[in-house]
Amino acid sequence: MKKIVVFTGAGVSAESGLATFRDADGLWAQYRIEDVCTPEALARNRALVIEFYNKRRKELLATLPNAAHVAIAQLEEQFDVEVITQNVDDLHERAGSTKVLHLHGELKKLRSEKNPDLIVPIDGWEQTLDDKAPDGSLLRPHIVFFGESVPMYDAAVRIMQGAELVIVVGTSLAVYPAASLLRYAPSGVPVFVVDPGEPDCTAVRNTIYHIKEKAGKGVPMLAEKLISELKR
Ligand code: OAD
Repeated sequence: MKKIVVFTGAGVSAESGLATFRDADGLWAQYRIEDVCTPEALARNRALVIEFYNKRRKELLATLPNAAHVAIAQLEEQFDVEVITQNVDDLHERAGSTKVLHLHGELKKLRSEKNPDLIVPIDGWEQTLDDKAPDGSLLRPHIVFFGESVPMYDAAVRIMQGAELVIVVGTSLAVYPAASLLRYAPSGVPVFVVDPGEPDCTAVRNTIYHIKEKAGKGVPMLAEKLISELKR
């Protein structure tokens, strides 16, 4: 079975109603990264950081996967598919994708402030300020903040190195090291980019096919094309 690696960002979840980060109506137009998404912000203003992620979690619980998540999950019927996502939502999993690596953490998990490997699920949307981990220390959102290392990066590189076809959906490719993963796509492997905007593809050395559509339309179209080519 041909191995497809799908690399996604906030745009794949936009049509589910979750805001992207860098679009005009994105989260980083409403909040400053240094106020809500750095280890210093957590130390300085714990309440604001926790409230920010509580809001994201509340929105996530109220939404559903869209046609793009579903089409990516259905590709598993014909291909060996691995999803690498920068998203902290669980919409790929809810759509049925079985192999999903989260580069930037997961909203539905918290972790011990002292031990990054002590990760616990959270029920519902609300983390309270004094929620404790089993080791007695405070819990924090299981999110990779700016300035922190990306623990899943090496595993993601290995997945990308095995790709026979790459699909990139809804990411500006503005954040590193995430965007640099595309450098590891083997040469000769085509890279399909589904995005209505103009992602920064400088890290991509391979031939790029840009489908300039929203994910909900562009991903099902691409999936249909890949499946029909198989049957020829
Ligand atoms: P960005 O907000 O940087 O980029 C969103 C991309 O989605 C842009 O290229 C848009 O053109 C595209 N887009 C918008 N609507 C779309 C739609 N309906 N269908 C398809 N594409 C659409 O989001 P990311 O690239 O995911 O990290 O951002 C990367 C990281 O920066 C995030 O994981 C997050 C953020 O800060 C952390 O919080 C650590």
